[in-house]
Amino acid sequence: MALINKCLFPAAGYGTRFLPVTKCMPKEMLPLVNKPLIQYGVEEAMVAGITGMAIVTGRGKRALEDHFDINYELEHQIEGTGKEESLSEIRKIIKNCTFSYTRQIEMKGLGHAILTGETLIGDQPFAVILADDYCVADGDNVLTQMVKLYEKYQCSIVAIEEVPAEDTHKYGIIDGVLEEERIYRVSSMVEKPDPADAPTNLAIIGRYILTPDIFELIRTTPPGKNGEMQITDAIMEQAKQGRVIGYQFQGRRFDCGSVDGFIDATNYNYQNIYSPGN
Ligand code: UTP
Repeated sequence: MALINKCLFPAAGYGTRFLPVTKCMPKEMLPLVNKPLIQYGVEEAMVAGITGMAIVTGRGKRALEDHFDINYELEHQIEGTGKEESLSEIRKIIKNCTFSYTRQIEMKGLGHAILTGETLIGDQPFAVILADDYCVADGDNVLTQMVKLYEKYQCSIVAIEEVPAEDTHKYGIIDGVLEEERIYRVSSMVEKPDPADAPTNLAIIGRYILTPDIFELIRTTPPGKNGEMQITDAIMEQAKQGRVIGYQFQGRRFDCGSVDGFIDATNYNYQNIYSPGN
């Protein structure tokens, strides 16, 4: 049995940076050309050997559930035509994966969203993908790289990348000791520090593998910055015990939660990845 069977997708956020389009459409359904962000995330998890997709949704996010379901009327309409091919990838996903959903009632931060997902995950290590961080890689995709690393380290892993010093206030920032090439043993973490207070410029991005004790740690860690339940604060408790790896992944990340990053990703995909129906 695979070590990591489930991937959690916190997808309840308001996506205010994309208003008004996110007023009644989930940010995770924004397309890079013709495929929504959430589908890229699900495909990344599937390629990493994960079949249980657990999605934390919220009000106005029903399109996410409909996307990973069959649309009989449409399928009947295009049956036997060349257009059927356009749905082959999503059909493959629906055939091979199971989807479960729960709703975050109040948007109290990423830590709270992950805790909301406990009911879907249970008592097992799990992956987390923030679909608005879109990642591409030449070899193994980013989550596959992390799943392989988990086999060796068997502890929580956060994906990290170097960011410009002036951007540290946008991210959780780690401090730690370099153990191997690209691999840090995390000693501390700080949420969105001003550049002057940042211990490094190694920022956590939207890929995690977490051990299930994280749920109790989220429950017992007091709310952090802005009164939100930050996942960084809970992972910090694991880091104090030396149980967190920071992994400088191989590949490139686009911050599709911001307009600039989204446009960059769209252009990149159109030039390098897009083909009709793919
Ligand atoms: P963001 O910080 O990007 O927030 O959340 P947001 O609400 O989606 O977007 P803006 O800043 O208003 O434009 C990072 C990830 O955490 C999820 C989001 O859906 C996104 O995938 N999230 C955040 C939740 O699921 N629940 C929350 O309470 C907060």
